[in-house]
Amino acid sequence: RAGRPFEGKRIMITAGPTYEAIDPVRYIGNHSSGKMGYALAEAAAAMGAEVTLISGPTALECSDPEVRVIRVTSAAEMHAEAHRFFPEADIVIGAAAVADYRPENQATEKIKKSGDSITLSLVKNPDIIASLGKLKKQQYLVGFALETEKELEYARKKLHEKHLDAIVLNSLRDPGAGFGSSTNKVTFIDKNLEITPFELKTKAEVARDILHEIHKRLEN
Ligand code: PMT
Repeated sequence: RAGRPFEGKRIMITAGPTYEAIDPVRYIGNHSSGKMGYALAEAAAAMGAEVTLISGPTALECSDPEVRVIRVTSAAEMHAEAHRFFPEADIVIGAAAVADYRPENQATEKIKKSGDSITLSLVKNPDIIASLGKLKKQQYLVGFALETEKELEYARKKLHEKHLDAIVLNSLRDPGAGFGSSTNKVTFIDKNLEITPFELKTKAEVARDILHEIHKRLEN
């Protein structure tokens, strides 16, 4: 059991970007590769958890066949799947980069090139992790914060406003951190505002660090 501290625990993880359709051929997306979320899913499974990975569009395959992978495209789909699996989860980690806005209307046909400029009207997407924060009972809820400035201040604000138990901060100002790369540099902040910074490491190592921080707090 020493090597499998999450035996008997159900962990739900969101990963990757979401794509918000403009028309049948175009979308609004972001640079998330899914690597951080997939690393978390694989590490959690190796630590004995029953893992559900809700993944936005990525080129990745989960290396552990025991992980239940649910593939989605848009924030609305990710929201629906996350709410479907949430009641049975013990731990939830939101590593996905969910689009905050989507096009108000999706054109059913490809939009044709016409004038020199066009305007796209956007409406807000539901905040998945915040909506789970309002519903949570036994679940330990962990978000990520991807920041480019005022990192600690914005991360604490998200921790509080989304009713999280902890938040993992990564900053695009740190080389080798955030989107795309196989490394990340994170700071784990819990709801008591205990702050644990980590060095630059591979995402597999970062995933284990995050899971150990969660485990320590569940043991207490
Ligand atoms: O996928 P990789 O290339 O490996 O990159 C990893 C990562 C940079 C995407 C990851 O480490 C990360 O930081 N993910 C969160 C990115 C993000 O959208 O951060 P945010 O600060 O905008 O969102 C805060 C939290 O709310 C996140 O847990 C996010 O999943 C969640 N959220 C945000 C908006 C929304 N509509 N629903 C959400 O659940």
